Amino acid sequence: MPPIPPPMLMQLLFFLLFSQYFVSGTNTNGGTNATTFTFRNHCSYTIWPATLSGAGSPLLPESGFELKPNGSISLDVSAPWSGRFWARTVCSVNNSSSASGGRFECSTGDCGSGRVECNGSGGAPPATLVELTLDGYGGLDFYDISLVDGFNLPISIDVQGSKSCKSVSCAADVNALCPAELSVVSDYKSVVGCKSACKAFNEPRYCCTGAYSSPSTCNPTNYSNFFKKACPQAYSYAYDDSTSTFTCPTGLNYHITFCP
Ligand SMILES: *[C@@H]1O[C@H](CO)[C@@H](O)[C@H](O)[C@H]1NC(C)=O
Ligand SMILES: *[C@@H]1O[C@H](CO)[C@@H](O)[C@H](O)[C@H]1NC(C)=O
Ligand SMILES: *[C@@H]1O[C@H](CO)[C@@H](O)[C@H](O)[C@H]1NC(C)=O
Ligand SMILES: *[C@@H]1O[C@H](CO)[C@@H](O)[C@H](O)[C@H]1NC(C)=O
Ligand SMILES: *[C@@H]1O[C@H](CO)[C@@H](O)[C@H](O)[C@H]1NC(C)=O
Ligand SMILES: *[C@@H]1O[C@H](CO)[C@@H](O)[C@H](O)[C@H]1NC(C)=O
Repeated sequence: MPPIPPPMLMQLLFFLLFSQYFVSGTNTNGGTNATTFTFRNHCSYTIWPATLSGAGSPLLPESGFELKPNGSISLDVSAPWSGRFWARTVCSVNNSSSASGGRFECSTGDCGSGRVECNGSGGAPPATLVELTLDGYGGLDFYDISLVDGFNLPISIDVQGSKSCKSVSCAADVNALCPAELSVVSDYKSVVGCKSACKAFNEPRYCCTGAYSSPSTCNPTNYSNFFKKACPQAYSYAYDDSTSTFTCPTGLNYHITFCP
């Protein structure tokens, strides 16, 4: 039998360490590439989270659902998978007396479906986004919280069963800090969302478009700095990668907590 070459030895060692880990750790997915997302509502109000799969990734079993305070729901997905999560707030059924039962509409993050399920539609900004790619490259998951499309509620991403993978949080109530020119005000006169400067002013320097369409020409602005100061781990503008993208070995589970 030929000697085991060093790279294979490393793989074997890695495998042994990991299989050990799966037996003794809290991770219950047994080393398959199934990942469980657990969505938890720690807000004092009801929210309607939504999921959107990227091109080529299958729809998740739920594309939109209600979560009461303290509520949680778990969804399983097989890697590779890519997509985003957000939550809709201040929702109601418009004209429920109509024959069709009315349209489900939200003040923030509305996906335009008229129903609780989004079924492949994205959310209207401003909305805090969780962006996730499972098994994206090199056996790693990539994840981030993005305020590039503005903010509507605090979110955290917690990797389960790993001490080395970083949890990411945007816990600040950015609505309470939001400059008036970016604020989205509900019928009840409270600020329910904080628009990105791109959305509010539609200028290339804020949107990283036109002459500002590359990392070297699109720099932070006073508005992106406002978001960065409130949530240092989150994307504050399109090219904010260096401090805002996180990775973790594929195969772990994630808690997505609203109002952590
Ligand atoms: C794991 O992912 C691979 C593709 O990368 C797929 O062929 C395989 O069926 C998946 N295994 C499980 C258990 O989902
Ligand atoms: C949510 O859980 C916390 C802590 O367990 C509890 O104090 C609170 O009353 C719960 N809220 C609701 C609405 O159930
Ligand atoms: C209900 O829908 C109508 C027509 O689309 C719209 O004008 C109105 O503002 C909506 N009402 C609420 C409370 O969203
Ligand atoms: C509610 O729906 C009914 C039936 O579709 C319609 O006649 C009515 O004008 C609607 N009311 C509003 C306020 O949109
Ligand atoms: C969901 O979207 C698919 C593809 O666009 C469509 O075929 C289907 O009818 C939609 N389902 C519902 C319940 O709207
Ligand atoms: C950002 O700068 C603009 C002028 O370029 C100013 O009008 C605005 O008040 C500033 N906003 C913040 C939040 O600092």
